[in-house]
Amino acid sequence: MNVSDSEVIFAILAKAGYERTEDMAAADVILANTCSIRDNAEQRIWSRLELFAAQKKRRPEVLVGIVGCMAERLKEKLLDSRKVDIVAGPDAYRSLPALLEAAAPDNPQINVLLSREETYGDIMPLRTDRGGVSAFISIMRGCNNVCSYCVVPYTRGAERSRDPETILAEARDVYERGYKEVTLLGQNVDSYFWKSAAGNTDFADLLESVARIAPDLRVRYATSHPKDISDKLIETMGRYANICRCIHLPVQSGSDVMLEKMRRRYTREWYLDRVRKIREVMPDCAITTDVIAGFCGETEQDHQDTLGIMREVGYDYAYMFAYSERPGTLAARNYPDDIPPEVKNRRLTEIIDLQNELSLESNTRDVGKTFEVLVEGPSKRDPSDLCGRNSQNKMCVFPAPGDTDIRPGTYVTVRILSCTSATLLGELV
Ligand code: 5AD
Ligand code: SF4
Repeated sequence: MNVSDSEVIFAILAKAGYERTEDMAAADVILANTCSIRDNAEQRIWSRLELFAAQKKRRPEVLVGIVGCMAERLKEKLLDSRKVDIVAGPDAYRSLPALLEAAAPDNPQINVLLSREETYGDIMPLRTDRGGVSAFISIMRGCNNVCSYCVVPYTRGAERSRDPETILAEARDVYERGYKEVTLLGQNVDSYFWKSAAGNTDFADLLESVARIAPDLRVRYATSHPKDISDKLIETMGRYANICRCIHLPVQSGSDVMLEKMRRRYTREWYLDRVRKIREVMPDCAITTDVIAGFCGETEQDHQDTLGIMREVGYDYAYMFAYSERPGTLAARNYPDDIPPEVKNRRLTEIIDLQNELSLESNTRDVGKTFEVLVEGPSKRDPSDLCGRNSQNKMCVFPAPGDTDIRPGTYVTVRILSCTSATLLGELV
């Protein structure tokens, strides 16, 4: 999400005549695109601000800006720190050139207005990846779900969908420029909806249109909400080989009591039924998830229920977090953050240990299979190996052939010979 926002920001600033540099010492303007989802994300930005302050000390004319969710959440409080000259929320990127123009070290500028319409739909993002294989495309902004622990609806505002024509134009453009994979991004893609004279477009329709651009363009998406993922979407995925066999379906907790308190609006049973449907249509589909350990009032039994559902689904991969109270959310207002840090951390460790086992089991099941792999480039660990992902989004590493040069963006067939919990290891066939 943030990479995609940064690419929109680069496009807006490039149009205003700015050039991008990664060399902080050469920059006239230093922007940090921020995330507020957990407290530690914000803490990292505060330490980055110290680094920027050192630049400002040496070169007082340098402007420092905080953009994105933390700008939206903290607003003027960021200016009070006196370390920041520009504060721009997620719907204020178009005003960045004007804010930069007006700002001076003793004249900070702020725009944190949230919009009901802004989707940056007409802006062709300036891609920042070097490989040129895989691109992110934002299809909607904001979120209307108000899960009780989550700050996103407050920092990114109400949900709005982007015009499908602009999404398709962007996907065609990246394909024509040689990209082989697009990931459609939204906080809750299942509620994507666009109404026009030509008819209505829901997420399954949009996904299908993107998949039809070209059979060798892989399509991924994130994130689905278990309460909303429809049979139509799952069946559409099943009909297209280039829609990747991987669904990110955040469960958060396996306990109905916690799910209710989290305001997720599904039960464990409902969730497991969605998993059954996915497996019925696509037996080879990977399922990944997000889990929160130690939410308000979580008992040992609730925690066991989370471990239980993880085993039952057998997740291929998971992002796992300790609950971090976010000021202003429903949970912060209504429930005490009462799980002691050592208990939260112990539960998180148990969740991580279990997921490592499940990932290893999932990868072990793939030994002996062959996959189509989209090559990303040399492996980081050993540059004589190549790496890339299969449709299930698993990283595959294999020796590069001595005689031919396989370029990033090539599809190859790989037979899996062994694995770790993180990687499949194989050979070209
Ligand atoms: N504390 C911990 N994890 C959180 N997430 C969202 N808000 C919080 C929070 N307050 C996690 C959820 C979500 C992922 C993007 O971040 O698991 O799916
Ligand atoms: Fe946050 Fe829930 Fe929206 Fe995801 S669906 S962004 S967890 S409020």
